[in-house]
Amino acid sequence: MNPRKPLAFWIPLIIAVLIILVTFFAFGENLISPDKDNTDSNINISNDARKTIVFSFGGIDFNVNLKTQISLFMQKYPHIEVKILQLPGSTDYQRNSYVSAFKSGDESVDVIMTDIIWTAEFASNGWVLPLDDYFTQEMRKEFIKGAIDGCTYEEKIYAIPKRSDVPLLYYRKDIIPKAPETIEEMVEMVKKYKASSGVKYGYVFQGHLYEGLVCNALEFIWAYGGDVIRNGEIVINSPESLKGLQTMVDIVNEGISSPDVLNFVEDDSMLAFQDGNALFMRNWPYAYKQLNVEGSAIKGNVGICPIPKGEGATQRSTGTLGGWNYMINKNSKHPDEAWLLIEWLTSYDMQVLDSKTGGNPPTRTKVYSDYENQNDPFFGQMLSLMENVRLRPVSPDYPTLTELMQINFSNALYKKIDAQTALKNIEDGMLKIMEKKINGN
Ligand code: GLC
Repeated sequence: MNPRKPLAFWIPLIIAVLIILVTFFAFGENLISPDKDNTDSNINISNDARKTIVFSFGGIDFNVNLKTQISLFMQKYPHIEVKILQLPGSTDYQRNSYVSAFKSGDESVDVIMTDIIWTAEFASNGWVLPLDDYFTQEMRKEFIKGAIDGCTYEEKIYAIPKRSDVPLLYYRKDIIPKAPETIEEMVEMVKKYKASSGVKYGYVFQGHLYEGLVCNALEFIWAYGGDVIRNGEIVINSPESLKGLQTMVDIVNEGISSPDVLNFVEDDSMLAFQDGNALFMRNWPYAYKQLNVEGSAIKGNVGICPIPKGEGATQRSTGTLGGWNYMINKNSKHPDEAWLLIEWLTSYDMQVLDSKTGGNPPTRTKVYSDYENQNDPFFGQMLSLMENVRLRPVSPDYPTLTELMQINFSNALYKKIDAQTALKNIEDGMLKIMEKKINGN
């Protein structure tokens, strides 16, 4: 037999090699190259067996760019396939889904994206893995301290911070001459400019019966020096908290806001503001990018400032610290691969991508300082805005507490009960939770 191959054999082979080389050089540089990132993992995994992990997250504002991050991950780790389980946007809905899955020992999900308020509950129930062996003290130093605190429960770390949400007051720069520092100043500005500018709403926020309402109501309560728990004592039923809640009730019912906002979650407020229907809006940072997209009625006219404080209050303005993290299901069959995914999603490069394309605030301090050095008009000032945020009560009982607050704040805003009764109900409910704990049931 002639050992030399005929030309008909070599030509297709040469063409195939050429196609591979051309594709690589043409497209390789346009992607964030997985081999050039800063995420050399601290664990080694053998490449022999292909593993599939399931990653679950909710919401629509960041999906597109999360999916890009996942396909880049799969390029870097071809032996790991990531399947996506996507849930609706509401934090309450997502929590309920995970809680019922974990209660029945679910093994099907490996990585979940979690709200900062779930950490204590998920950790204390043993539903998620402690990550201290993966996420070293050294690694933690690269993240914002508040975000790390929000991932920690009883000195163990259970999550890696994805994004840190600090609420902002958005205002129409083309109508409002200067950012208000107090709630009263904002109210005066609405009275002065609403009719002349023809907008429908003065101030929009998140007033629907859900977690977002608690964030908004607490900001009013904190604005006048009130609080829920202070030094271990229940202090919700105080004159300061009453002043805060009453001010919010009046704002809704006396034409500064509107009872319409009692149906609003984040995206509803954003759409109202984006369509040019509101002078002021309280929302999270993700809105800034959306408000300035091509075609937005108010592009270029969006001012931002900290959440205003109450007149006469001695403390500075205070926003609720929000944020989302990544956790690993305790029953995951592939915790090492799950960790690699989390490490990738929270890497410097992915946080830059997430903030640039999704408008989400990062959790790595270096991403912020780089934005600051580039004089970025939004993220450049974000770290200083983050100095004045507060946590919602941190407790495994938070789900019961938030339910209590949601229903009572909502009833007060609808004027079904007065603000004083709402606070008294919350106080009584909290005392009952404590009593139950003391009696061990
Ligand atoms: C944002 C925050 C989250 C909060 C939620 C309320 O997503 O990051 O912490 O619970 O809003 O709607």
